[in-house]
Amino acid sequence: MALTAKRYTITAALPYTNGPIHIGHLAGVYVPADIYSRYLRAQKKDVVFICGSDEHGVAISIRAKEEGISPKEIIDKYDQMIRTSFDQLGISFDNYSRTSSEIHHETASEIFTKMNDTGKFSEEVTEQLYDPKANQFLADRFVTGTCPKCQHPEAYGDQCEQCGSSLNATELIYPKSTLSGAIPVLKKTKHWFLPLDQYQDFMKKWIIEGHKEDWKPNVYGQVKSWVDDGLRPRAVTRDLDWGIPVPVDGADGKVLYVWFDAPIGYISSTKEWAAKNNKDWEPYWKDKETSLIHFIGKDNIVFHCIIFPCILKASGNYILPENVPANEFLNLEGNKISTSKNWAVWLHEYIEEFPDQEDVLRYVLTANAPETKDNDFTWKDFQARNNNELVAIFGNFINRVSVLTQKYYEGCVPARKDLTQEDEKTLDKMRAFPAIIGSSIERYRFREASQELMNLARLGNKYLADQEPWKIIKVDPERVKTIINIALQIAATLATVAEPFLPFSTKKLRCILNINNPSDWNEITTSTDVLSAGHVVGGQELLFSKIDDSTIEAQLDKLEASKKSNLEANFELPPVKENISFDNFNAMDLRTGTVIEAEKIKKTKKLINLKVDLGFEVRTIVSGIAESYAAEEMIGKKVTVLANLAPRNIKGVKSQGMLLMTENKNGKLIIVGPEDSSMGNGFEIN
Ligand code: 2FM
Ligand code: ZN
Repeated sequence: MALTAKRYTITAALPYTNGPIHIGHLAGVYVPADIYSRYLRAQKKDVVFICGSDEHGVAISIRAKEEGISPKEIIDKYDQMIRTSFDQLGISFDNYSRTSSEIHHETASEIFTKMNDTGKFSEEVTEQLYDPKANQFLADRFVTGTCPKCQHPEAYGDQCEQCGSSLNATELIYPKSTLSGAIPVLKKTKHWFLPLDQYQDFMKKWIIEGHKEDWKPNVYGQVKSWVDDGLRPRAVTRDLDWGIPVPVDGADGKVLYVWFDAPIGYISSTKEWAAKNNKDWEPYWKDKETSLIHFIGKDNIVFHCIIFPCILKASGNYILPENVPANEFLNLEGNKISTSKNWAVWLHEYIEEFPDQEDVLRYVLTANAPETKDNDFTWKDFQARNNNELVAIFGNFINRVSVLTQKYYEGCVPARKDLTQEDEKTLDKMRAFPAIIGSSIERYRFREASQELMNLARLGNKYLADQEPWKIIKVDPERVKTIINIALQIAATLATVAEPFLPFSTKKLRCILNINNPSDWNEITTSTDVLSAGHVVGGQELLFSKIDDSTIEAQLDKLEASKKSNLEANFELPPVKENISFDNFNAMDLRTGTVIEAEKIKKTKKLINLKVDLGFEVRTIVSGIAESYAAEEMIGKKVTVLANLAPRNIKGVKSQGMLLMTENKNGKLIIVGPEDSSMGNGFEIN
């Protein structure tokens, strides 16, 4: 594949401004989009990289209602926070706009009006869910119920997060208003529909037949299943008070559906960029020689591959996306990332807690990107990738080269002379890397590209280790000039090809090498001298530093704290079990006792072997309490024991009774002890 387009419009999904950015967003969308855009710029392409805040939609409205503030207060807060943290991570948008801006309202209204005037919508009066308590129509996230496809009991009115189906609120079984809890009634209302059924053939030709080979299988597969199911008309307006008013007479109280206006945000953000930079926005959206690429997460596929393209097609002379390289999801320590459960690594917190380590996060999220399947982020892997790859391979190579150059040549690049076969081979390999890495990026294989990048640093390390300039300097100092020259060429090549991935570290590397700008990506594939002999390199600086265990443990503790507070927040007392007879109760013989010995049973998670003194005898009792109590801690504790429970063999130990325990909010077991701790052993509890 070659980059043949005249210009590139690169978009990254507009984040909702109802919460901060987390690593899932970054790995799925923003880091790959940024690498791609930086790469195109390095290729000297005409590129505009577009994003902005998605500020309409029900989630923002709900959050404002919950917090008793206006949607504007919410969007202003998060818009500011999101832009700052993107900037701090080096996400190099050419423009970051907002869908609450005037230019966006104008653009979306214009497109809607034009489509309406040219008969691209159907107007239909249909029965929609209405909350009789809140006096409001319920769509999308304002209503939950059972998914008609997978029976998930908490599907939303627009989507089931369990099976991924896109839904209409009226399809939900047992719908319930999220506003008031009321059971909605059906009420008639008029809406504008985009007749997607009329685009069935267009979709078939354009994607199903036209992009089978070049689109990612996960994206192609999802679109195909939609098209195979048969496309159906979709409402593009809503009865809501937050959004862009429907620009048609007689549409009071109605706004554009957020998924109608949000992707148009890419166009309005491009317009804003063009106005600021004295450019014409239209070729970036209308010229056939422009390549439009949408970076998104998999939950946005239908909107970017079906709905928005149909809007673009219906609106006249817009281009369609060339590719939509959607990623799968990133999990965190084995669990789904969740904003409401605070199960996430938040970008703004990372920036604060890991100063000067932006590139580490960029690298780890790229090396472990969920490109073909959902993937897991773990802090241990984060530490290992930093310590074993960035520090031990990349950083180590650069450090060795710069130390040796200073030590032997006072920082002046030595000239190289007669080349050995090994030198030639190394230079050939080095010159191949820009094309290898470029080809991976062009195929949206950013993980692969990041590993090739590391392979280039490995090449440098191996070359130095094999040539051993620190030994040769004593016997053949002329030869060392050649070795260091070649190592420096590798370092300079890294400074260029690593830039899209590690923009902060390559800036430092350019200081170390004393070069102003990255070299031309294509030139370095042919030129032998990225750094000329006689050039004086800059000072020394460490590119990466080790991350120690305590830093990682602190992050794991933070997640553990989230887990605990979630358990507490979601704690519900279990319902009381069915009644038992008095005789059944009376059959239990409860005695008090004191634990005199306790030992964890090896190779089990929960079991402790206890010796309990009941006064009249010492019992062996195996109890599943090790996640709540350490064995040592149990010794001396007063306990209540069900003394006439039939003995059982547990892990080879004969257990003669059971300790009475109850469970607190955090899932910790608590001893149900004799109330009066002075009560001796063996007492019967009545
Ligand atoms: O899923 C989301 O976070 C949406 N806010 C993405 C919108 S992308 C585009 F269409 F604006
Ligand atoms: Zn479902």
